Amino acid sequence: MKRMFVFVSLIMTLSLFVLPGNLSGDVPPGAVPERIVLNVTANPAREMAITWRTGPGVKNSQVEYMIATSMSYWKYKNRKNADPYKDTKFQTAVNETVNLGNGSIVLQHSVVLKNLKPDTLYQYRVGSGETWSEWEHFRTAAAEEKPFKFIFLGDPQNELKSMCSRVFRTAYAAAADAAFVLIGGDLVTKPWQDFAWGELFYAAGWISRRVPFILVAGNHGYYLKNKKGVTKRQHRFWRPHFTQPGNGPNGLEETAFFIDYQGVRLIVLNGNEKLLEQQKWLVGLLADNPNRWTIIAIHHPFYSTGSDRDNPALRVLFQPTIDKYAVDLILQGHDHTYGRTYKLRNGKIVPDSEKGTVYVVSVSGPKFYSINEKHKHLMKKLGTGLQLYQVIWVDGDVLRYESRTVTDELYDSFELRKPAAEPAPDK
Ligand SMILES: [Fe+2]
Ligand SMILES: [Fe+2]
Repeated sequence: MKRMFVFVSLIMTLSLFVLPGNLSGDVPPGAVPERIVLNVTANPAREMAITWRTGPGVKNSQVEYMIATSMSYWKYKNRKNADPYKDTKFQTAVNETVNLGNGSIVLQHSVVLKNLKPDTLYQYRVGSGETWSEWEHFRTAAAEEKPFKFIFLGDPQNELKSMCSRVFRTAYAAAADAAFVLIGGDLVTKPWQDFAWGELFYAAGWISRRVPFILVAGNHGYYLKNKKGVTKRQHRFWRPHFTQPGNGPNGLEETAFFIDYQGVRLIVLNGNEKLLEQQKWLVGLLADNPNRWTIIAIHHPFYSTGSDRDNPALRVLFQPTIDKYAVDLILQGHDHTYGRTYKLRNGKIVPDSEKGTVYVVSVSGPKFYSINEKHKHLMKKLGTGLQLYQVIWVDGDVLRYESRTVTDELYDSFELRKPAAEPAPDK
């Protein structure tokens, strides 16, 4: 008996070193789908992207979906004379093999559901054979302008499981009917560590299965410095985890794109590379924009709020275009502080009644920088040291914004109103 005890103890001790990920909290996946995430596509009224992963060897992975019903699945399937439109459908996933570099191979599965009904609650599950996820819901966007809200989070990046889980949960509790969660980049700090991605999905929990995410490319998770200090593009783990639109400049698929969502043109820029191409692309998007509101999300701030940073090149390149077309709101991360400007045009404060742009930098994770005072005169609110989330409501001529602490106290808020004299653009 004693010998058996010693043997078991030895195996348990060894397993801490042998089983990859046990120390990190990440266990190699099997057949059960994990890291399930919804993503908004370029046609959000008709489509939904779903991505998940399993261990290798999972064949014929699929999404099963239908318009949501409160009737139980089996009772529904056995019902006679079921409405054929409401019958479940299957779509087979595209599979991508990813080598985690720690001896594990995983499969990332992705599907874009198409031909969905606008403004409709669907239910779906992902899996293969006898192994499936739970059924979960998502709602498609309305095909026309309609009030909605969304959540914006600055960089989560650090201590994702320990400190970021509560941000996701508090934000979801405050805005469970959010149309999407927009994250401003730096999802993880070391993108080559699979366990960090595991922690991100732990923090997001089942929220990413119910509310679609829109991810901005940060510098972390995008670049990897090798031992010689050479910077290489790092998409190896970032890209397979998500399925984002590819309607931006060539070479920036899934990192620079736009989504028209119920009266808002949301443009996601990639602050890491090909900025000139993006500037030209942006001019076209803004010159021909049928939406009432325009929001840009980019990781790197135009007016830095953290440490001794600044990005004058971004201002030189994009500011004239942003001013000319009066982009309403710019959501940014990277500086691990909080800053919200007055309404600005040409780098100067303009009255609320005039056309201009509000720039926000925020952070959701627990890493903070000191405040940068360089642009303090442009800031209505400037601070650091707080984990924050934002909820943004868009309702006709009014855009309402709240920044709240993770302990759910109001930290900052403002409203933007379209001047009454400015008619809504034709659709
Ligand atoms: Fe960053
Ligand atoms: Fe960051």
